[in-house]
Amino acid sequence: MRIRDISLAPSGKDKIEWIKSYTPVLSLIEKDFAERKPLKGLNIAMSIHLEAKTAYLAMILKAAGANVHVTGCNPLSTQDDVAAALASEGFEVNAVNGASESEYREDLKATLSCCPHLIIDDGGDFISLLHSECRDYGKRLIGGCEETTTGVHRLRAREAEGLLDYIMIDINDAECKHLFDNRYGTGQSVFDAIMNNTNLIIAGKKVVIAGYGWCGKGAAMRAKGLGARVIVTEINPVRAIEAVMDGFDVMSMEAAASAGDIFITVTGCKDVITKKHMSVMKNGVLLANAGHFDVEINKRDLEELAVEKRRRKPHIDGYILPDGRILNLLAEGRLVNLASGNGHPAEIMDMSFSLQAKCLEYLYENRDSLEKKVYDVPGKIDMEVATLKAASLGATLDVLTPQQIKYLSSHD
Ligand SMILES: NC(=O)c1ccc[n+]([C@@H]2O[C@H](COP(=O)([O-])OP(=O)(O)OC[C@H]3O[C@@H](n4cnc5c(N)ncnc54)[C@H](O)[C@@H]3O)[C@@H](O)[C@H]2O)c1
Repeated sequence: MRIRDISLAPSGKDKIEWIKSYTPVLSLIEKDFAERKPLKGLNIAMSIHLEAKTAYLAMILKAAGANVHVTGCNPLSTQDDVAAALASEGFEVNAVNGASESEYREDLKATLSCCPHLIIDDGGDFISLLHSECRDYGKRLIGGCEETTTGVHRLRAREAEGLLDYIMIDINDAECKHLFDNRYGTGQSVFDAIMNNTNLIIAGKKVVIAGYGWCGKGAAMRAKGLGARVIVTEINPVRAIEAVMDGFDVMSMEAAASAGDIFITVTGCKDVITKKHMSVMKNGVLLANAGHFDVEINKRDLEELAVEKRRRKPHIDGYILPDGRILNLLAEGRLVNLASGNGHPAEIMDMSFSLQAKCLEYLYENRDSLEKKVYDVPGKIDMEVATLKAASLGATLDVLTPQQIKYLSSHD
């Protein structure tokens, strides 16, 4: 067990209770799992952004009968009070906000040392360890679920080279995940974090969004809604056309660098903003990343360019250039919405984590027929979560008549 301070538990419990009131689909799954105990006796290891929503997911897996071991997936996104709340409920927790890279890795390894039957990974660090220095901890492992785009990229690359030793389910590409979590979740929570941390206005600013994928679309949409003038940078011509038709300017980062006031990277790629861009940026710009790893804004370049680095406000480091300009890096270049905010809204994670819970059950039930591959979320589970969520939102649906079904499936 490694947490900051167990006395923080009451605040963490309040946060989890709040979340429970706004996650109706997860509540239904919790009730069902508590009655049936479909994961009874299994060890489950979770590496996730440890905050109230993920804590509730851990509790649901415990209600299903599992022994749940929890760690973070980013040293800055762990909320110490939530970690304490889980520890006080008997969970094995190894996660501390602000952990160094080596402490973070030790926490991942300590969590895997339970020799899990199932894992939940977010970004692919667990899977990477289980195929290298923690191979022994995988002796009972059947497989698990991967939450995010970057983790899925890493999994698919491993699978393509024939190096995947476990059954994994790609949660990210389910409709109930990326359409809502990546788009509306990231869109809202990124601006929530930027506005809270900076106390600055978005309206009238030029906001540069790097990457017009699911997260980028959400961030651009919210920036526009807040009154910003939005510039998109892309490498994919189809996404570039989408951005233009959605009403945004599309240009290279080289061109956008001197125009922007706020930069938000959401590409999943590295070196999106480098020295050549930083050297032409305006005084006072905000640099924020919402992609999974802190490699999109090149921090080494910032360090090299600056004559001084100063913490200006919590979560904001000012890099002072020789000519006096200050470039402000938010949340140390880590996911701004999680490292310096509360992450996605509860109603959004209601869907993502319902998929996680249902898919772990599916994986365990079907362990003998599945291969060591990356699987999509079964359509039946995606639709079940969608149906429950739509009902909880008060959306009533029409139902196809037999004649309509026949018409839609006919070729004449
Ligand atoms: N902050 C969060 O809460 C959160 C939530 C979900 C996903 N993510 C992460 O955000 C990242 C993006 O996820 P997504 O689902 O939008 O992925 P995506 O694949 O849908 O979109 C990424 C986009 O970036 C573009 N791109 C790639 N390299 C680029 C470059 N160098 N310059 C400009 N554009 C480039 C791609 O063409 C693509 O359109 C991933 O790292 C993912 O893990 C973060």
